[in-house]
Amino acid sequence: RFDGITIFVTGGAGFIGSAVIRHLLADTGARVVNIDKLTYAANLDSLPGVSSHPRYVFAQQCIGEGAGLRALFETYQPDAVMNLAAESHVDRSIDGPAEFIQTNVVGTFTLLQEALRHWRALTPASRARFRFLHVSTDEVFGSLGTSGSFSEDTAYAPNSPYSASKASSDHLVRAWRETYDLPTMVTNCSNNYGPYHFPEKLIPHMIIRGLAGEPLPVYGDGGNVRDWLYVADHAEALTLVLEHGKVGETYNIGARCERTNLDVVGRICDLLDEISPGAPERRGLINFVADRPGHDLRYAMDPGKIERELGWRPREDFESGLAKTVRWFCNNRTWWQNILDRGYRSTRIGLG
Ligand code: NAD
Ligand code: DAU
Repeated sequence: RFDGITIFVTGGAGFIGSAVIRHLLADTGARVVNIDKLTYAANLDSLPGVSSHPRYVFAQQCIGEGAGLRALFETYQPDAVMNLAAESHVDRSIDGPAEFIQTNVVGTFTLLQEALRHWRALTPASRARFRFLHVSTDEVFGSLGTSGSFSEDTAYAPNSPYSASKASSDHLVRAWRETYDLPTMVTNCSNNYGPYHFPEKLIPHMIIRGLAGEPLPVYGDGGNVRDWLYVADHAEALTLVLEHGKVGETYNIGARCERTNLDVVGRICDLLDEISPGAPERRGLINFVADRPGHDLRYAMDPGKIERELGWRPREDFESGLAKTVRWFCNNRTWWQNILDRGYRSTRIGLG
């Protein structure tokens, strides 16, 4: 699988990008070039033992900076690009949208331009093989009511600066295929969780605060619904799309695993009580706080297309995946303590 192939993974020091790199190095013969600017969300500790791997290269590089990208394309001559570099946190996009426009829109545009320049210079055979896989989110579809799910044909209706910037990037990728023939594909995935998840996101945030016996800030009434997927299952889905996906297509990825935020936080409390007992019970720490502005009520992905056409199925169910994740955070305190010690800015973190 992918023997002799070189893959650029942008954002490879982030949560999902690092899972993709661990997966590619372990399960394929690809050479991987990790292109990451190393923002606050990056962590090379999420790639333990990888820096000395013979098929791994790291380049600290912003996807919005064309000259540096061009040099990387010329040096490594990739057969594929997997674009995961992004500003990813919705609350930050509300507090400061500029960086989201810069990286998610201008950065994706710059990367597309350099990929196109590289692709045009390839031999016809290499050009036919080349793929640009853009990794996106279910949030581009906006919010669902109490029923229904998102399909690949659902109209885009993003509600946050983050999702609007991701929607813009998806449209750019589509246009570069339609206008310039660049062989692109787009995936839209639901909420990921698992090891190495950055502490500002719901699940790690609650685990870390629960371990410390601190209040657990649930936005609004906790009734918002997210559709959860274990990160390793996402990494395998992306690998399959890169390998067998059809150029010009989009694929929705999800595990049909809807949970209210309150259910998720309650389950984390129970798991912490089992794994790391402390009195009183953690459910007592749940604290309802001011809601996120424009908070999408419910996401639910219909992954029927990737299941039918590529045979993808998630391996992890939510109960075992969440238990694994809670245990991972309990056993890998140095990984997240180092992040907390470096400090990270967010106005909503620690609410309540
Ligand atoms: P993350 O915030 O954990 O990691 C993002 C990575 O991108 C970081 O390593 C960061 O340094 C890098 N980066 C940011 N700006 C950059 C730039 N200008 N140039 C180069 N590198 C840059 O994000 P994540 O949760 O791993 O998400 C990865 C991708 O998957 C994003 O595109 C996100 O929109 C998408 N996605 C995430 C989820 C989820 O639940 N986390 C779900 C669906 C889709
Ligand atoms: O749906 C995919 C998206 O999932 C990705 O595109 C984003 O990059 C990723 O960050 C994630 O976005 P969410 O906004 O869904 O994730 P977050 O972890 O920020 O919040 C999950 C839910 O939990 C959301 O309804 C808000 C709520 N929440 C979050 C935090 C951090 C709380 O109630 N309390 C909190 O402290």
